[in-house]
Amino acid sequence: MRRKLAAGNWKMNGLRANLGEIEALIAAHPAPECEVLICPPYTLVSAAADLVKGRIAIGGQNCHPQISGAYTGGISARMLKDAGASHVILGHSERRADRFESDELVHAKSTTAISEGLIAIICVGETERERDRGATLDVISSQLKGSLPLNASGASLVIAYEPIWAIGSGRTPTLEQIAEVHDFMRAEMVKKFGDDGEEIRLLYGGSVKPSNAADIFTVSNVDGALVGGASLLASDFGAIVAAL
Ligand code: G3P
Repeated sequence: MRRKLAAGNWKMNGLRANLGEIEALIAAHPAPECEVLICPPYTLVSAAADLVKGRIAIGGQNCHPQISGAYTGGISARMLKDAGASHVILGHSERRADRFESDELVHAKSTTAISEGLIAIICVGETERERDRGATLDVISSQLKGSLPLNASGASLVIAYEPIWAIGSGRTPTLEQIAEVHDFMRAEMVKKFGDDGEEIRLLYGGSVKPSNAADIFTVSNVDGALVGGASLLASDFGAIVAAL
């Protein structure tokens, strides 16, 4: 049985003062049915992990494919784990686009992250153009093939389907479109990982809000959400947690 996951990606937002939102979230939802994860910027990972004391999970938003070395500015999976993180988001479309991250690089990062004991959340998703020309499933298939680590198990890998055109836009696919992609991803997971593929959680991400979360969570093979903007405030994210 897959445990639902509500994951918040703070992106490049959050100062120490914003840690209060995490405290407020825990206070309002002390015993959520789903697993709750916040991925703040690197600078807050350690403080957030100390603050939550295991009551919710804390994750990073990226890591380096190497464990240590002469990589100025790099943050490794081992460092994230040492700082108290249990998860790491990899291959987010903002990094694939802005930092030219390839499937190969996401594959290398996720392989290292998993061998260091982190849960890798790998993001995939199509552009609007790709959807318009009917290429959505081809794009997802090739991203999954290229990015997925071989050392994953049901417990150490999460996939987030984030249509690029839905991120931060207030637009979401229809429930049928989400179901089509999630059912496809489930079949791909089972093909690749056998029975373990049934345990891999599949999140939807892209303009998830308190007003649409409950509907999205009714879709087959949607095991939770990866939330950007609406994860920054405890009130909004709390409502999404409660809907799961
Ligand atoms: O990783 C989460 C994300 O890209 C979705 O962002 O702001 O549309 O919820 P948002």
